[in-house]
This record gives sequence, structure tokens and C-alpha cells, in this order.
Amino acid sequence: MSRVARIALNRVSLRFPGPTAGSPDNQVLSDVSLALADGEFVCLLGSSGCGKSSILNLLAGFERPDQGELRLDGRPIYGPGPERGMVFQQPTLFPWLSVRDNVTFGPRMAGQSADRYQADADRFLRLVGLQDFASHFPWQLSGGMRQRAALARAWLPKPEILLMDEPFGALDAQTRLAMQELLTHIWQTTRTTILFVTHDVDEALFLADRVLIMSASPGTIREELQLPFERPRSLEDLVTDPDYGQLKRSILHVVREEVAKSLNSVIA
Ligand SMILES: Nc1ncnc2c1ncn2[C@@H]1O[C@H](COP(=O)(O)OP(=O)(O)O)[C@@H](O)[C@H]1O
Ligand SMILES: [Mg+2]
Repeated sequence: MSRVARIALNRVSLRFPGPTAGSPDNQVLSDVSLALADGEFVCLLGSSGCGKSSILNLLAGFERPDQGELRLDGRPIYGPGPERGMVFQQPTLFPWLSVRDNVTFGPRMAGQSADRYQADADRFLRLVGLQDFASHFPWQLSGGMRQRAALARAWLPKPEILLMDEPFGALDAQTRLAMQELLTHIWQTTRTTILFVTHDVDEALFLADRVLIMSASPGTIREELQLPFERPRSLEDLVTDPDYGQLKRSILHVVREEVAKSLNSVIA
């Protein structure tokens, strides 16, 4: 990669204690290296349990590695920071707060005065199409709308890096596509650096500049693919592109091999 990495893991390993006293440790990640350039959109693809969330938790500063190092703009990462935002699979909104109060929760807790963030809150509420729902409460929203509110909340503090953990995994197919289009639109406006975790090959091919495919437990980066598709992308154009079929086929092959390995290790 020619540009300087914004955020990187270098030769990182992570293990957790086994489930019972005396049982062997669970080696979750083994010698993982990855780096994101400024403004890059990278998808991390892998089967369930291979350590995708663990990689995000390390980069977010919620976990510490056993070996290796984590860097942000060349400096070591020791803990969470406001330049890194996280979006989870479940939108985790406060049920007793309105959409606007949820979206502005971070700056309000940081003691900022309303005139510093209200204009941005309006802008992000508009961008995610919730301007008419600002006074609604989470229970009055659909799943997709809740996730849109969570997106606006994550973007409001203007993170330089967004870590997204299967954020659309619980949505139906149509809503998911609408959210993917919305996400790429906001990303193209803000040029935030994004690491997006998914187990969905089509989602990775639609969103990413580059796809990293993980091996099954212990997780490593098994393959890396630079995607040739231009932006803005439309799903209709993409699925009829011969490169798309070819890439999907080879990714599915790798993912299937890794799922088989993890199933074998569970059965063995
Ligand atoms: N805090 C934790 N304590 C113990 N084990 C954990 C913890 N977090 C994750 N693990 C284990 O690490 C492995 C990878 O988990 P995770 O990173 O969530 O995978 P993925 O997101 O790819 O499904 C799993 O075996 C899981 O049980
Ligand atoms: Mg996960």
C-alpha cells in the first residue's frame, strides 16, 4: 500500500482463557496483520467465530492483544478514543430517549453546548432520512430506522475511523440494500475510513474497496482482494458484471473451505 496506514494491526495474536479451569486457552487470533489507508472502505469477511468482532474490539481499544501491536497514525493504541466510532449489529439505542437525544447523546455527555452539534445532528438526521422522526422513540421505529439512527449517532462526533460489526445483519434483504446504499453515500460525502465486518459475500462485494477474507479459528487473514468495481455502484450493474460472478465464486470457495474446517474442529 503506497499511502500511510491510518489504522493497523501488526502481527497480532489474541487468546482467551478456556471455558473451565484447566481447559486449554482459546486461541482466537494468530499473527493477524492488516492496515487501512485514509478514506479506504475495507470489508472483513469470515465465518462465525473466526475472530472478526475481536479484531474490531482490539482496534476500538476494548481489548488488548497478547502479542503484536495496534497503531493509529503510527502511534500505539492503548484504549478507546473519539476518533474511532463503533456500530454494532444491534442498534443499542436508549429506549427512553428520542431519536434526536440518542443521536446527540455523545456530545451532550461530553458537555458540549447544543449550538455546537445541533446543525450537524440535523444534517445527519436528514442524511439517514429520519428528519421527520427526530421526536420519535426507538420503539416507534422499524429495525432499519433504528439502525439508521445508530448510524447518525456514530457519525455525529465525526469519527475518522468507523468500525462496523455486521450492522445490517439483522435486517431484511431490501432494507439491507437500502442501508448499504445509504452507507456508501455517507462514506463518499465524509470519506471516513471504514472497517466493516460481514459474513455476507454480496455485501462485501457491494461495499468494499478491498476485501480481507479470514481463516477459521484461530483467525488469520487468508486472502486479500482489491475490487475492480467503479463507484457509485448499483446492484443491478454489479450482478451482471462478469468480474462479480468470478470474484463471488472464488470468495465462496474460500469461505466454504474455512466453514468446513471450523465444523470439523467442532465435531472432532
Ligand atoms: N470476551 C471474551 N471472552 C472469552 N472468549 C471470547 C470473548 N470474545 C470472543 N471470544 C471468543 O473468541 C472467538 C471469536 O469470537 P468473535 O471475535 O466474536 O468471532 P466472530 O465475530 O468472527 O463471530 C469465539 O470463540 C468466542 O467465543
Ligand atoms: Mg462477531
